[in-house]
Amino acid sequence: MDPVRNPYQPGAGRKPAALVGRDDTLREWQVGLQRAEAGRSIQPTVLYGLRGVGKTVLLSELRRNAARRQWIVAQAEAGSDRNIRELLGEALYAPLADLARPNAGRRLLKALKTAISFKASYDASGIWTFGLDLGDSGGGGADTGVLETDLRKLVADLAGAAEEEGVGVAILIDEAQDLTADELTTVCVVAHAAAQDDWPVAFAFAGLPSLPRILAEARSYTERFRYVNVHELSPTAAAAALTIPAADEDAEWEDEAVGVVIEASRRYPYFIQQFGQDAWNAAAGPVISVHDAELGVARGNQQLDAGFFRARWDRATRGEQDYLRAMAEDGDEGSQSGDVASRMARSVTSLGPTRAKLISKGLIYAPEYGVVAFTVPGMAAFIRRQPAA
Ligand SMILES: Nc1ncnc2c1ncn2[C@@H]1O[C@H](COP(=O)(O)OP(=O)(O)OP(=O)(O)O)[C@@H](O)[C@H]1O
Ligand SMILES: [Mg+2]
Repeated sequence: MDPVRNPYQPGAGRKPAALVGRDDTLREWQVGLQRAEAGRSIQPTVLYGLRGVGKTVLLSELRRNAARRQWIVAQAEAGSDRNIRELLGEALYAPLADLARPNAGRRLLKALKTAISFKASYDASGIWTFGLDLGDSGGGGADTGVLETDLRKLVADLAGAAEEEGVGVAILIDEAQDLTADELTTVCVVAHAAAQDDWPVAFAFAGLPSLPRILAEARSYTERFRYVNVHELSPTAAAAALTIPAADEDAEWEDEAVGVVIEASRRYPYFIQQFGQDAWNAAAGPVISVHDAELGVARGNQQLDAGFFRARWDRATRGEQDYLRAMAEDGDEGSQSGDVASRMARSVTSLGPTRAKLISKGLIYAPEYGVVAFTVPGMAAFIRRQPAA
């Protein structure tokens, strides 16, 4: 069928035509926003799961929900060279600029001045003004250089401004496992303070399956955060992810064809989008048949091997690839570091740096002490298909 009308979208963070199977999380978030607007406390939300399972897309939907309620919203992605000050500061500029006006309330003017001081704390050359004279607005002082002090001041003043505007503040951080230990601790402290003092501030974090453990290590009271394991879709949701977008384009799937893609994708959203896209392109239309689905899966697998998996494999050095190969013998379930070492005839200690490097590259994670696992479903099988070097 016409590839221009193809509704399936494999790709990091790409909004699916039908976002299915996440209703509980969206409902709870919605309740949280309403609670905040009513002056009640809300717990930070933590979305964790494997790569390609739909964390970013869900986080963005949470952001859109808050934005629809006119909240002050900042979404950032950790893991680049930029630190948390810069990430959050820059993410806040546009929403604050939208609110800035000469006749704004006292607390909003104060928050703007504080935001300006926060900006100055990481960028001395780019000064914000919001086009306002904030001379006697109070505020400021979020530039002591102590991250916890500055972030707490910023969030507190933003919360005050939001309250005055009858809304809240949503702070969303993707790839949160890549925050430094200090940044994580600080964010947890501020999130905790916000929940304790009933500030209308909703925090949401997304990251790899190691994120809950990393958070627990950062601060003990993170046990009160709301943890959401973002996993593969249920059979019903997976089917809907295929059939709803097709119906919107006046096309349909044979039931059995849906079954083929559900089976092959193991209900992982990224793979559903990939196979859906290729099945659509294979079909003459308007009905996607079993044969189209089988062809779509075959072509989709080639695409995944050439892109999704290959890109990750190529990111590893030769030595790191040896480590991944030794892990691949255990499949996707994860390996004991000790088993990997003995397969490589090395000691666990001598492989420590390789393991750490693979974790920082986001290719593997440590589900628990002494265990490593792939961050991508299907990676073990892909590696076993690779010819030995
Ligand atoms: N609930 C869903 N229903 C249908 N498709 C989805 C759903 N969630 C995500 N997808 C699709 O799956 C793919 C991966 O989504 P996303 O980038 O959000 O995953 P992720 O968990 O953030 O991955 P990564 O860890 O690599 O950042 C995208 O193509 C997206 O359109
Ligand atoms: Mg993501």
